[in-house]
Amino acid sequence: MSNDTWEKLRADCEGCTACELCKTRTNCVFGTGDENADILFVGEAPGDNEDKTGIPFVGRAGKLLDQYLFAVDIPRESVYIANILKCRPPKNRDPLPAEEDACIEFLRRQVRLIKPKMIVCLGRISAMRLISPDFKITKQHGEWFEKGNFLITAVYHPALLLRDPRRKEEMLADMKKIKQKLDELK
Ligand code: URA
Repeated sequence: MSNDTWEKLRADCEGCTACELCKTRTNCVFGTGDENADILFVGEAPGDNEDKTGIPFVGRAGKLLDQYLFAVDIPRESVYIANILKCRPPKNRDPLPAEEDACIEFLRRQVRLIKPKMIVCLGRISAMRLISPDFKITKQHGEWFEKGNFLITAVYHPALLLRDPRRKEEMLADMKKIKQKLDELK
């Protein structure tokens, strides 16, 4: 879609009825941030707080993500944050493949409009969809891959770090590498 616009994309997304999740959503969680960002962060799917507010990563996991962004001096307003799924799966279950298939074109359209220099997958589900179906987050987090016009990497999902704080050091190291790469690309 070469004549796509943010207005059209948002309206399509907010009116989407392509999967069952539209029936239980409070809000479509479209995405937020700088529409010309160098970095696009992609999570999995909205949780309860995101469904209520319509904004990605505003709950406990989001607050932790904010802390990492702050720690490596990447202002949250300077990045774009979105998810693979725009509607919340009931009880925060993993997205179904059919739901991802129904939703992924919205993310592709976001990527085409933003034209980021790098994409950072937040967690396994996002990495398996955007990097490789057999992506192993514990082994491959922080590795860089080239795709089209951008670099792509994956880090632990902040919700995992809340459950397993021992991985926080690795997360900080990955976030520092991301900041360094960003500075190199500027
Ligand atoms: N987890 C996600 O993957 N995305 C959000 O927006 C919030 C929590």
